[in-house]
Amino acid sequence: MDSILVKGNGPLNGEIPIAGAKNACLTLMPATLLSEEPLTLTNAPRLSDIKTMTQLLQSLGSEVSALSDGQVLAMSSHNIDNHVADYEIVRKMRASNLVLGPMLARLGHAVVSLPGGCAIGARPMDLHIYGLEKLGAEIELKDGYLHAKAPRGLKGAEMELRFASVGATENILMAATLAKGTTVINNAAREPEIVDLADCLRAMGAQIEGDGSPTIVVQGVDRLKGATHPVVTDRIELGTYMLAPVIAGGEVELLGGRIDLIGAFCEKLDAAGVSIEETARGLKVARKNGRVKAVDVVTAPFPGFPTDLQAQMMALMCTAEGTSVLEEKIFENRFMHAPELGRMGANIEVSGGTATVHGVEKLKGAPVMATDLRASVSLILAGLAAEGETLVNRVYHLDRGYERLVRKLTGVGALVERVTGT
Ligand code: EPZ
Repeated sequence: MDSILVKGNGPLNGEIPIAGAKNACLTLMPATLLSEEPLTLTNAPRLSDIKTMTQLLQSLGSEVSALSDGQVLAMSSHNIDNHVADYEIVRKMRASNLVLGPMLARLGHAVVSLPGGCAIGARPMDLHIYGLEKLGAEIELKDGYLHAKAPRGLKGAEMELRFASVGATENILMAATLAKGTTVINNAAREPEIVDLADCLRAMGAQIEGDGSPTIVVQGVDRLKGATHPVVTDRIELGTYMLAPVIAGGEVELLGGRIDLIGAFCEKLDAAGVSIEETARGLKVARKNGRVKAVDVVTAPFPGFPTDLQAQMMALMCTAEGTSVLEEKIFENRFMHAPELGRMGANIEVSGGTATVHGVEKLKGAPVMATDLRASVSLILAGLAAEGETLVNRVYHLDRGYERLVRKLTGVGALVERVTGT
């Protein structure tokens, strides 16, 4: 298993290009199942999760080719000959459950393995099932698989989500595009990835309003056509790399960065004493002076502070001036990076969903263990400002969500290298 070695090496300078969003691409790709005509995605990220989704769609009968060095995904689902999403693929990546809604809408039946447990929380699918049943589907769980059918097709309906779940909103939204009549999703998720999905579905001929607000309205249509759609910028990759010059010093321009994608995060950085400047090409970020100030954070659905940037923010708060309190409200087990940061000399107390971080002058490099995608990158960030060497093990987690991380960080002067087969 590969590891990544990070040597604290002082200020960073230069530019980092931000890729297309993993969490947008993972819901845009299943949209191909809604139409017989080709769907092409541009600005696609080059990640192992995208390869897993490709494998899943191909197992259902879709054609998926990665072109232009993997940044263009040409897909066609004119001939879906399998309606079973197999456990062997789904267990590798929970987002595989996003084929359920589109398959049900297009074919009238679908069998999708339940993803099972996850490091950061239980992550049930009750809201996906609730919404699809509201559209008239009959769903039962058998041998670890969800068996869903709607022999007479789906029918539009009004519903209220108990929680603004991203995945449930995406599955229901895709299914509703081909349902007869009007669907109203109240308390829908408002993430930029949802808006990107709606933009793509509209380009395919869907009738959708209200995406980005708590209420989405969909007028069902008989069929969807083909389209070409650019994947939105990855706001989580953006936020992650914005912290690199803040933690290590220096100034970095994030190409393609947009403040509107991560407003709540930028507000916290501003309060911590970080300078964020909008440029013609993106965002320029630097630490204003000396140590950043400790700030408190509470994660929340968009437009709140993203849970996917909580671990990275904790890495920054480890050397902040003062004490910060981070509350994780989305997932019940998302502080596994805290004890690893503790191995680097951080002073963190975790109690349930609350972590109290007492800022220290300096972290020290150490061998640490990656436990999930965002936890692993928080250890890389911490290593950028630590004395000595930090060896982050099990970096396969990173490959799922960060394309060419070593190249991007060494490009701005960081001493980061991949160590194979440790
Ligand atoms: C998406 O996961 C993202 N993944 C996650 O990013 C992100 O952390 C999450 O949204 C929240 O922003 C993708 O887009 C592929 P949810 P998703 O449904 O859709 C509970 C990363 O690091 N819930 O909004 O699974 C659930 O247990 C990943 O890139 C139910 O109770 O998130 C959780 O506590 C990690 N029942 C909360 O809602 C349901 O049916 C949020 O889940 C569905 C969800």
